Amino acid sequence: MYGLELAGEQDAFAVYEAKSAAAGVELVAPGLATAGSITDRVETLAYTRRAIELLGRTDADVESARALLRAAPIEREGTVAVRARDVRGSSGISTQRAQRELGSVLVDRGFAVDLEEPDHVLYVLFSSGEVEADEIALGRVPDVVGDSLDVCLVGWLAAESTRDFTERKPTDRPFFQPGSMAPIDARAYVNVAGAGPGRFVVDPMCGTGGLLIEGGLVGARVLGVDVQEKMVRGTKRNLESYLSDSASSTTSVEFGVVRGDATALPLCDSDDTGTQTGTQTDTDTVDAVVFDAPYGRQSKIARHELAELVEGALAEAKRVCRSDGRTVLVADRSWREAAISAGWEVDAVFCRPVHRSLDRYVHVLTGAAEPGRENSP
Ligand SMILES: C[S@@+](CC[C@H](N)C(=O)[O-])C[C@H]1O[C@@H](n2cnc3c(N)ncnc32)[C@H](O)[C@@H]1O
Repeated sequence: MYGLELAGEQDAFAVYEAKSAAAGVELVAPGLATAGSITDRVETLAYTRRAIELLGRTDADVESARALLRAAPIEREGTVAVRARDVRGSSGISTQRAQRELGSVLVDRGFAVDLEEPDHVLYVLFSSGEVEADEIALGRVPDVVGDSLDVCLVGWLAAESTRDFTERKPTDRPFFQPGSMAPIDARAYVNVAGAGPGRFVVDPMCGTGGLLIEGGLVGARVLGVDVQEKMVRGTKRNLESYLSDSASSTTSVEFGVVRGDATALPLCDSDDTGTQTGTQTDTDTVDAVVFDAPYGRQSKIARHELAELVEGALAEAKRVCRSDGRTVLVADRSWREAAISAGWEVDAVFCRPVHRSLDRYVHVLTGAAEPGRENSP
């Protein structure tokens, strides 16, 4: 069993993203979840900071955490450090006191403390408060929403996500335009879409390429399409800067950007029957489409009225995407009905505030429905 320390303020969305890297994820308190198992994809998550191998779960107070640690079986050798976190400042616990007291339990149990380079790091994660459902327009509401919770998770650090999003600030990229998406959000959206090694991800309205950069950095092959030549040239520069051999010390990924219309993509129909393993057999088969529709504020809505553009892009996504693939559509309003009409199943819609006058609706669409069929939720 594992514990997850979530990031951001929107737990339902963080849990949803975490499911791309872990199984059996359940929210247990504000900013805290548990999982039955994790994969190495945890390192790519935007809204999960770390995963710990659980020793146990108790109330959010230092005495209970100490009692849990005294009784827990520990099959580890080497030096240790204890790190306590008052997640979102919700519990009011003194983390210094928690570190001191749980550290002394480990010393009593024969461990040497090394704060600089410990062999094992014990995390003690405290959280209290009510889990809110405000951000959910539609989706699977976690069971604990509305409950007042008081939880401490104690466990050994198993994996941490790489928190390097500020190194890719849109304004620092070779090509920048106002309205570019924050890298942390772009990462979450490509994860929700299922991007990763062996996957082919298409953004049919790529703008400055924010989604493609994050898709490529998690290992997917990425293709961008935009109707404006300026965006195509700019995105190429951005992808070269972050995804080419010279930009990456790890493996480089294939990427491409072409000028085109999202309602008439330059891609073949998907004629597969679904890929169960996630390993790609047909390199032209699109595994996921992810896009950020124009908001009618900054972005140019070229060639089409907005509804015509989004409906056409959803239909094209359905045409090119493998039958068990996904589309993630980000927009300033709900396009749920349009998605259903285009033949998608709506798995979830999250409403995420960006600033006072802008909410982003994040639609997670899955295959399988016949065009026009009504579905749930
Ligand atoms: C909201 S922006 C995408 C922003 C992008 N996520 C980013 O971070 O830069 C929408 C993009 O859709 C493009 N667009 C508008 N109409 C289009 C069409 N018919 N086909 C393809 N792209 C289109 C615009 O040129 C714009 O770059």
